[in-house]
Amino acid sequence: MSSPVIVLVGPMGVGKSTVGQLLAERLGVGYRDTDEDIVAGEGRSIADIFVDEGEDAFRAIEKRAVRTALTGHDGVLALGGGAILDADTRALLAGQRVVYLSMDVEEAVRRTGLGVARPLLAVNPRKQWRELMEARRHLYEEVATAVVPTDGRTPEEVAEAALDALELKEA
Ligand code: S3P
Repeated sequence: MSSPVIVLVGPMGVGKSTVGQLLAERLGVGYRDTDEDIVAGEGRSIADIFVDEGEDAFRAIEKRAVRTALTGHDGVLALGGGAILDADTRALLAGQRVVYLSMDVEEAVRRTGLGVARPLLAVNPRKQWRELMEARRHLYEEVATAVVPTDGRTPEEVAEAALDALELKEA
């Protein structure tokens, strides 16, 4: 059994995949993403799972995918934005090196507002973002070893800041 070097959490569109892949390269380890695991395992898109079976069913699938990845991956792992809603998942994250990539709501609307297939933001993205972050911010903070703001930063700068925050940079 192994566990990830770094687990990335944070809202959709914050750059977990891009930053995660940069971090994996920098550390010379593999990159994994629970959204991709779910799509591969289910053979359909996340939007399709939401439409076909609803959010609760998706969360149950996600919870299993996160548990599997947390115990079977020793690289960088990015979790879907809502994974931290589950209390068992949050308990599993205790003792892991977890980086919360944060961004403010206006940045979130800018980054995800246009035409991206994200079922939770289908209508009135600004209001939905605000509600989403009010419900989740404290959960991200609860599981985080380090919080790295992404506003106005390039993915490379965010990756650098994450390595600094975790003291994972070679001398
Ligand atoms: C979700 C985030 C998405 C995906 C699903 C639900 C959420 O992942 O898991 O659409 O609840 O925030 P990303 O954060 O990778 O976009």
